[in-house]
Amino acid sequence: MNVNQQAQKLLELVNKNNKEKYSKFVSVASGKGGVGKTNFAVNFSYVLANKFDKKVLLIDADVGMADVHVILNLKPQNSIKSLIEGKKPEDIVLSAKGFDILPGLSGLDSLDTFEDYLINKVITDLAEFSQNYDFIVIDTAAGVDNKVTSFVRASSKSYIITTPEPTAIMDAYALMKSIYKIYDYADFKLVVNMCKNKNEAINTYERLNNSAKRFLNKNIDSPGWLPFSENVKKAIKQKKLVAEEYPSDPFTKAIIEIAAKEVGEEVKVEKENFWNKLMGFLKK
Ligand SMILES: Nc1ncnc2c1ncn2[C@@H]1O[C@H](COP(=O)(O)OP(=O)(O)O)[C@@H](O)[C@H]1O
Ligand SMILES: [Mg+2]
Repeated sequence: MNVNQQAQKLLELVNKNNKEKYSKFVSVASGKGGVGKTNFAVNFSYVLANKFDKKVLLIDADVGMADVHVILNLKPQNSIKSLIEGKKPEDIVLSAKGFDILPGLSGLDSLDTFEDYLINKVITDLAEFSQNYDFIVIDTAAGVDNKVTSFVRASSKSYIITTPEPTAIMDAYALMKSIYKIYDYADFKLVVNMCKNKNEAINTYERLNNSAKRFLNKNIDSPGWLPFSENVKKAIKQKKLVAEEYPSDPFTKAIIEIAAKEVGEEVKVEKENFWNKLMGFLKK
């Protein structure tokens, strides 16, 4: 047995004995903005925590529109800067509705300008802190810049949110295509949001999947779709969560189904820590 095989064996053994200790890093991304990423990430976190009893950390990694705290009616005082200045993740984490939120992590790439020992300390702290959670859900910005693709590639899977609009479909395809072509990453789960009905969801999924099959030679998995619902808009206006306020709304039921699938899937053990991977990608 060579060293690599030994390491692999050890990893498998640790995994077998220690399943609970692994956290799942799941990102939420889209090509186009305004398709419902943040609303999905927040309600998905809520459902994982409150319906499935999971420990969940929601990370806001959207620079332009970091609005996780807006939906949750929180006022974060800290950001990545606070970590560099010596605070611990547990000092800056916020709690709401049964899960935790780490605000302001969109600035992680600015770590580059600091000394290595400082970066390492922040990364080690974040890695240790993440072990307290079953799921780490990451809300990203729209688009295909290096920051977004870094968060996606470091995650063990990425929910790609689109709507049935042709522009949203095109942008979702472009995002998946570039991440797959450039980085060979394809752990995507497509979720079509704001659908009028099941037919519209299936048509949208098929359009995207046909392109993926034809041009990328790949099938794209979809764990479900989300209906358009006035209650989503109402809840956001009232700074409430649709999954909490409207438990029998079709949107809530659909998100519970997607979360059930997520919980049912085995944890994929990553060889390298999420945070290390992320920092490596961000630097390029
Ligand atoms: N399923 C839905 N039904 C109705 N409106 C929705 C739905 N999902 C999202 N929206 C609307 O879209 C807006 C943008 O959602 P948001 O999650 O902030 O998008 P993103 O994070 O992708 O920019 C929300 O404020 C809400 O009004
Ligand atoms: Mg958003």
